Amino acid sequence: MSTLRERELRRATFVGPALVAWHARSGRHDLPWQQQRTLYRVWVSEIMLQQTQVATAIPYFERFMARFPDVAALAAAPLDDVLHLWTGLGYYARARNLHRAAQQVVALHGGRMPSGFADLHALPGIGRSTAGAILALAGGQRHPILDGNVKRVLARVFGIEGPLAARDVEARLWALADACTPATGFATYTQAIMDLGATVCGRTRPACLLCPLQPECSAAASGRQHELPQPKPRTARRLRRRREVHMLVAVNGAGAVLLEQRPSQGIWGGLWSLPEFDSDAALAGHARSVLRGLALRQAGWQPRVLGRIEHAFTHFDLTIHPRVVDCDGLDEAALADGRAYRWCDPAAWCEGRETLGLPAPVKALLAAVAAERAAAIS
Ligand code: ADE
Ligand code: SF4
Repeated sequence: MSTLRERELRRATFVGPALVAWHARSGRHDLPWQQQRTLYRVWVSEIMLQQTQVATAIPYFERFMARFPDVAALAAAPLDDVLHLWTGLGYYARARNLHRAAQQVVALHGGRMPSGFADLHALPGIGRSTAGAILALAGGQRHPILDGNVKRVLARVFGIEGPLAARDVEARLWALADACTPATGFATYTQAIMDLGATVCGRTRPACLLCPLQPECSAAASGRQHELPQPKPRTARRLRRRREVHMLVAVNGAGAVLLEQRPSQGIWGGLWSLPEFDSDAALAGHARSVLRGLALRQAGWQPRVLGRIEHAFTHFDLTIHPRVVDCDGLDEAALADGRAYRWCDPAAWCEGRETLGLPAPVKALLAAVAAERAAAIS
């Protein structure tokens, strides 16, 4: 065995106990998914935490559990109800996968979350690391995990060169992740290494002075915390993309707003949103043709302009130009453009009497329309 291998193994045997001791000292033990640790609760929390901070996820998790206390309840719910509870968390594919996976658990496993790694990994939205995390945290089984945060920690501790996405680098990281996972205390270890990556050993400013791994960290020893892991190779430098859309806010006499369901693929897939267009001209043209049943209660197609809304996605920034038209209703037959439309009372939605999944900026728009109407009435 090479010297390097020996050193790696020594480091790995240090990492597990050091993280377990650190977590006992400084970790949080009062998070809702740490209570009643069932496979179901831990699964839902792991999916939420994939792209969401702990503090943000807590109220969403609690509402989700109140509404869907078990797999059967989740599987039986309409997808709209699930998306509704996800409104504002983003990455809605996570919610669609949870719903589909719950239905598979009912169909294939009699409504009990499978506790075998292969069965769990086979469900939609559960990758190798997530399956390992769920079973380590709630299944009493030792499995390594390797999400983005853990990769960064391990690349720094073990001084791993090369882009993380490279096949050989990833294989080596899995081997190191396995070597670091202790035989006892693996549940605490699993939580601890994720927490360390999310807090102390963050991407931009690792707090090495506070880090329990510092005595054995290769990056800290050589002052290379900011060079490891190596950034992704960039093919072409690309500016952050921007998109502008014009959204139609058609408000009927009862104050309801016309919503259009997004296609199930792509951004906001399956959510109810507002009809969107590239320009005001396209908006007016569409409204005159497809939505020709809109009986305008205003002179001509001159929509009211609401303040623009900025929304940041991972890959681009979206500017929304809302255009309000007052109308009396809509001939359903006029909507035969293959899309699903429905009226939604914004006040009812804001008060929770309507359960529809709405993208966060659309939710903000509906709240503005409801407030405007309340002000006009009073
Ligand atoms: N990210 C993914 N899973 C997590 C967890 N259990 N705790 C904190 N951050 C996480
Ligand atoms: Fe990360 Fe610094 Fe800890 Fe190394 S010592 S694991 S670089 S925080």
